[in-house]
Amino acid sequence: MANSNILLLSFLVIFLSRLNFLEAQLVPAVFIFGDSITDVGNNNYLKNTFAKANFTPNGIDFPGMIPTGRFCNGKNVADFVAERVGLPSSPPYLSLVSRPGKINNATSFLTGANFASAAAGILNSTGFIFGEVIPLWTQIDYFATVSEELKQQLGPSAAQKLFAKSIFMMAIGNNDVMFSTLALLADPSIKNKTPQQRMDLILATLEEQLRRLYDYGARKFLVIGASAVGCCPFLRAWEKGGECNEVVNSLSIMYNEGVTPMLRKLKSEIKDMSYTYYDSYGVLQNLIQNAKHYGFDEFKAACCGQGNYRGIPTCFQISPRCSNRSDHLFWDPFHPTEAAQRILIDIFFDGPSKYTFPFSVHQLIAL
Ligand SMILES: *[C@@H]1O[C@H](CO)[C@@H](O)[C@H](O)[C@H]1NC(C)=O
Ligand SMILES: *[C@@H]1O[C@H](CO)[C@@H](O)[C@H](O)[C@H]1NC(C)=O
Ligand SMILES: *[C@@H]1O[C@H](CO)[C@@H](O)[C@H](O)[C@H]1NC(C)=O
Repeated sequence: MANSNILLLSFLVIFLSRLNFLEAQLVPAVFIFGDSITDVGNNNYLKNTFAKANFTPNGIDFPGMIPTGRFCNGKNVADFVAERVGLPSSPPYLSLVSRPGKINNATSFLTGANFASAAAGILNSTGFIFGEVIPLWTQIDYFATVSEELKQQLGPSAAQKLFAKSIFMMAIGNNDVMFSTLALLADPSIKNKTPQQRMDLILATLEEQLRRLYDYGARKFLVIGASAVGCCPFLRAWEKGGECNEVVNSLSIMYNEGVTPMLRKLKSEIKDMSYTYYDSYGVLQNLIQNAKHYGFDEFKAACCGQGNYRGIPTCFQISPRCSNRSDHLFWDPFHPTEAAQRILIDIFFDGPSKYTFPFSVHQLIAL
């Protein structure tokens, strides 16, 4: 063979192996539990809820310009997680079943499912003000039936192997923090509690749900802390100079200060589970402080919404809108733009370790 052919061949080999590397599937499946940050359309299936986004201009930058139910101009963090592990986005659970809890075909769950529901929280009472939502508890009930079906179909040990290598993302808690005062209306049991006692209840409930997920087969958890929700346009809209709402931010900090020791304790008790915690509070503050560096000219105002900082919900077809969706940190009064959500997941996967510990997602996957 002529030298040039060998050269060509080796280029080809390198090219193909690189292609292979880029598309390599890193985990068998991605299971997602959460709220509107990761909802990819479950709430479309709920009849009595205001927490929906299946209308334009949501999805204006999504492939096909389709409003899917994502609270974003384009893809959201659930899509970027899937992209990073080389899988298609996990479909909304309710799109895969004929009715909640009734599974027709377990095969459709082999690469994961998304149980997230906009406005939902860790507590059953969180989000009630929007109408029907799927609280974390129920999301995990739904996973329990998936787990049961897959064990039947694949055999218990093959199903357990699949779950053990898969990632289970928990992107929930922001609504519990933001609406914890409202939740008092619906839940008399937390009426007389101090903020710290309410936080303790939220965290105890989260711990209970993580243990349930473990019992149903989960081993690798991605746990996202409460964000600096006081800095979303909805809360800035009421503050002088559009500052962050520090009362709400302090609740996020209180929540996060409880989550990390809870996870450490859980790990010390359950040896074969592992987790990575994401300090989304610190990451958002960093994006705000270094907005220009990340390409964001505007970090206070939403791209789409009403009133001060376009912070009055929600983003409707007729709402005032920004001209450049890529230079805004926030899409609507509550949710980051696609551009920002992509950056959030890049940091989650690759570190630095002050934001994602004890592992980055990449390291967790490799365990
Ligand atoms: C179940 O779903 C898989 C993939 O979605 C499909 O290939 C298969 O034919 C389905 N099986 C039945 C019995 O519907
Ligand atoms: C939350 O709702 C679930 C499902 O309806 C129920 O089983 C559970 O007991 C509730 N939790 C609390 C603390 O009320
Ligand atoms: C929109 O913003 C992005 C990110 O800052 C920038 O790269 C791009 O040039 C802007 N587009 C226009 C048309 O100004």
